[in-house]
Amino acid sequence: MARYFHFRTLQDVQQAALQLGAEVVVQEDLSPLWQPITVGPFRVGNRLCIQPMEGCDGTPEGAPGELTLRRYQRFGAGGAKLIWGEATAVLPEARANPRQLCLTPQTAPALAHLLETCRQAHRQVWGSDSDLLVGLQLTHSGRYSHFRPLLVMHDPLLDPLTFDRSTGRYINSDYPLLSDDDLLRILDAFIAAARLAWQIGFQFVDIKQCHRYLLNELLAARLRPGRFGGSLENRTQLVRLMIQRLRQEVPGLLIFTRLNVYDGVPYRAPPHAPQSPGEPWPFHTPVLTSWGTSTEDPLQPDLTEPLRWIAEMRQLGVSAVNVSMGNPYASPHLTRPFEYPPPDGYEPPEPPLLGVARHFRLTEMVQRTFPDLLVVGSGYSYLQEFAFHAAAANLAQGRVSVVGVGRAALAQPDFVLQLRQHGRLERRRVCRTFSYCTALMRSKHHPLGQFPTGCPPFDKEVYGPIWQQAQSR
Ligand SMILES: Cc1cc2nc3c(=O)[nH]c(=O)nc-3n(C[C@H](O)[C@H](O)[C@H](O)COP(=O)(O)O)c2cc1C
Ligand code: SF4
Repeated sequence: MARYFHFRTLQDVQQAALQLGAEVVVQEDLSPLWQPITVGPFRVGNRLCIQPMEGCDGTPEGAPGELTLRRYQRFGAGGAKLIWGEATAVLPEARANPRQLCLTPQTAPALAHLLETCRQAHRQVWGSDSDLLVGLQLTHSGRYSHFRPLLVMHDPLLDPLTFDRSTGRYINSDYPLLSDDDLLRILDAFIAAARLAWQIGFQFVDIKQCHRYLLNELLAARLRPGRFGGSLENRTQLVRLMIQRLRQEVPGLLIFTRLNVYDGVPYRAPPHAPQSPGEPWPFHTPVLTSWGTSTEDPLQPDLTEPLRWIAEMRQLGVSAVNVSMGNPYASPHLTRPFEYPPPDGYEPPEPPLLGVARHFRLTEMVQRTFPDLLVVGSGYSYLQEFAFHAAAANLAQGRVSVVGVGRAALAQPDFVLQLRQHGRLERRRVCRTFSYCTALMRSKHHPLGQFPTGCPPFDKEVYGPIWQQAQSR
């Protein structure tokens, strides 16, 4: 069980990166974080973004619950000027868990209240919210829909790992696929949800194309027959139609997207040595079912198609891309480099600093290809108290436009205040990538079918008892 994070100073981080050949640069000067940036008609007051993070704490109807309100109140007060609201399903059956938010005419007033709670908290602490941009991630969970998998394609790598709760079995190649008509109905649901989001005051929606949920999987559907599979043109057709319709039907709404640029392959704990570093599940080349991935060597990214797709999305009117990668169920080390694995995961297969460097490198490729696109980067929390020094260096070097903060914001939602007042995070509340938050997401033995998630170690008062309850069976 190798542990990797031994860094005490910026120099330690730099040194370790050099030794690994990883491009992780840090700098003392945090001033790049405080530069405003514009997107569409909006001025965003700093370069910090709260990443979309589900709390799994909605009502059974998909409205925000008490803990959801608390979270967005804390994020609003925190001071990041871009708040990327969490995964919100466009249809009840599209939810990844029974407490995921779902945007419908019934839940819209409660989501409007959530948004106002967030903005008001921001105004109270920071005086004005005129430079605060808040949007919502719209999702269809596809393969990972809670009640039963809703597949756009078969994947020989992921099918054996895809559990169907409705039968209590893993799926196989007989499992039915969504039809083209089903996909067109899903398109309508995205449009309806986006319109509602706009009506209740969100400034942007994110058409979620990451983490192997439905629209991400469709990008990889080379083997799907019909109008939405096969060629790149076909695989991108549903989102192309979505963007075109949104531009026409909801013209004021900004369209953002969170995009996997590299899916990779699933990993596992080695069967006979579960404490050893994780390893890829066996695969045969060419791997044709992963997006942004070399078909001959799927451990390597290939951004040819993602870059072509971003170029087209820009022309269609997408104004920001939040770069992500991997699959939070099957390759979590790619999505969020960690020191301690989640309970359904595996030990890091590589020094996590390499995972951070992969995020930085692929994000830089996107940003350098599209210098005037607003590109949000991910995967910073592993760097703990040095995350914002890497963020500042990446901003200063033009490797990214805005820095996304995930787990670090669950552990310390007032991180902007800490950085502003003390020039660093409060040490005793820095996310240590313990993965308790993911463990809670995976805990289903709750009366509502899902435990809420947050940060038990550093938000103890609220999530300590929830953690205790989740641990006792
Ligand atoms: C508890 C939790 C919930 C998450 N929910 C979402 C989500 O709703 N949508 C999404 O795109 N990513 C989600 N993510 C991924 C994060 O947005 C982020 O990409 C990831 O944690 C890596 O960033 P970090 O290193 O700053 O944590 C979630 C992550 C965590 C830990
Ligand atoms: S539980 Fe807290 S410390 Fe652990 S990874 Fe999540 S946010 Fe970080």
